[in-house]
Amino acid sequence: MRVVSGIQPTGNLHLGNYLGAIRQWVALQDSMAAGDDCLFFLADLHAVTVAIDPAELARNTIKMAAALVASGIDPDRSTLFNQARVPAHAELQWLLAGTARMGWLNRMTQWKDKAGKNREGASVGLFTYPVLQAADVLAYRATHVPVGDDQKQHLELARDIATKFNADFDIDLFTLPEPFISPAAPRIMSLRDGTAKMSKSDPSDASRINLVDGDDAIAQKLRKAKSDAGELPDSAGGLADRPEARNLVTIYAALANEPVATVLARHAGQGFGTFKPALADLAIATLGPIRARLTRLLDDRGAVATVLEKGAAKARATAAPTLLAAQRAMGLQV
Ligand code: TYM
Repeated sequence: MRVVSGIQPTGNLHLGNYLGAIRQWVALQDSMAAGDDCLFFLADLHAVTVAIDPAELARNTIKMAAALVASGIDPDRSTLFNQARVPAHAELQWLLAGTARMGWLNRMTQWKDKAGKNREGASVGLFTYPVLQAADVLAYRATHVPVGDDQKQHLELARDIATKFNADFDIDLFTLPEPFISPAAPRIMSLRDGTAKMSKSDPSDASRINLVDGDDAIAQKLRKAKSDAGELPDSAGGLADRPEARNLVTIYAALANEPVATVLARHAGQGFGTFKPALADLAIATLGPIRARLTRLLDDRGAVATVLEKGAAKARATAAPTLLAAQRAMGLQV
């Protein structure tokens, strides 16, 4: 089993990232058997497909790496690095750009969402973004890729690229990566709109809970979170047409590591005036210790940079044979 996943170092790690992805990274790392390995990276090359402030990107890369360690990623057991320091990602991406089809990329919903109506003005990088993401996992022959639901389509594309490359060059090189999506929190929604994903790029900070938010901010954001005037039902069916209510119950269940049915059995009949403070207590109890670790780690940013440097050296060695084999298969090694 080889686990590979990434996160863009833009903005702060939020509850959607944590429950949808990072907690799975940690669980997979903690359940690794001998011979398995985990590689986790900051997708800084993906971050530069939109306008960035270079100083801020560098700062955010360290901050996001520290947030991952604070969340439980152990650099002694997992390889933690930033993508830009492992040239195999960009090199393999170019090799795979000959395999990926325009039509496949045109169908990517994230491309359509991010480019919006201004496709002519979007960067080429934003369009080929999923090819780099395919290289990210194929370079390591990843078997499992823990992600939120929003990344599923990108991984299906990675599988299509791998299959076509293997067939075109008559080689059994790339492993087909399996998306590993948290059943408890596949998609955490915005606190302001139960139909929109919780996201780093939402202009409203009230839409998300950040790992760096203090206890008061967490309580306040949850108090103000959009909900409805109804009571909590006694079964999940009663949440069907109530996206905001469903989201808050999903967050509670994921944080408590309990099935939604158990949460509803306990809170059925309560209004949000009662449920929200209980949810805030739970969120604070879970995130508080992570925030404390993050604050400590950020006291020594040099140490975090050293962790990334060591991780990159390991990742370069791990990716090298696959890149070489791809070059050989394509006649690029004479
Ligand atoms: P990114 O940085 O947007 O998000 C990092 C991880 O968090 C998950 N996630 C969510 N899960 C549940 N609910 C949400 N509201 C939510 N928001 C984000 C994402 O699904 C992701 O798992 N393109 C990727 C980064 C990437 C990558 C890769 C991932 C680059 N290369 C290779 C896996 C494998 C991205 O922008 O994720």
